[in-house]
Amino acid sequence: MATHAPILSPSLLAGDHAALAESAMVVEQLGLPWLHLDLMDGHFVPNLTFGPETLAALRRRGLKLFFDTHLMLTEPHRYIEPFAKAGANLISIHIEPAYDHAAVLRRIRELGCKCGIVLNPGTPAAAIEPHLSLVDLVLVMTVQPGFGGQSFRRDMLPKLTQIDAWRHERGLNFRLEVDGGIDLSTARECRSAGADTFVAGTSFFRAPDTRAFAAEFAEIA
Ligand code: DX5
Ligand code: ZN
Repeated sequence: MATHAPILSPSLLAGDHAALAESAMVVEQLGLPWLHLDLMDGHFVPNLTFGPETLAALRRRGLKLFFDTHLMLTEPHRYIEPFAKAGANLISIHIEPAYDHAAVLRRIRELGCKCGIVLNPGTPAAAIEPHLSLVDLVLVMTVQPGFGGQSFRRDMLPKLTQIDAWRHERGLNFRLEVDGGIDLSTARECRSAGADTFVAGTSFFRAPDTRAFAAEFAEIA
């Protein structure tokens, strides 16, 4: 089993885009520590969301949440500094586009943030293996990125098991996060496979009672 206590990271993508600060405030007022922010460039994924100025504006509203920043960008290396300056705490970059991944991971840390590496459903675990010792978090996509509200890909569970096994064999301490189609039931399956950090967009923001959802989530440990 993973040694990290489970963290729920609600995805603001499923919040109210005309009132993002208020949606984020719901998370903060529940005492949840993390907020997941999805940045899309209309190129790496076929959708657009927001940018560094949105993070900065959320900080100006006084939000203290840990910003779990997921960059779905073809050229993430061009945007690391703006996101770090805007208030990101963790910056996760995808393995699929071609750039110097190790250098960008190091740069993220130099800027005072934690760093993560992300892999799409079609990308084998082996693709990120060389970077495991450089990261604070591995994010396994459990849907094809780009949109909220998709169905969980159960065939990603063996990938989690593999990455968790490497973590233990090598004495590494990164978090193992899942993103896409996560609800209380799929979170339990992912927890059993080694995940400890759970992005929830639709299941959180569309829950009839977000407080009850967070409380039930806390039980999956
Ligand atoms: C998808 C994003 C997710 C998204 C998840 O590309 O990376 O973070 O918000 O949404 P749900 O939880 O609705 O699948
Ligand atoms: Zn995401």
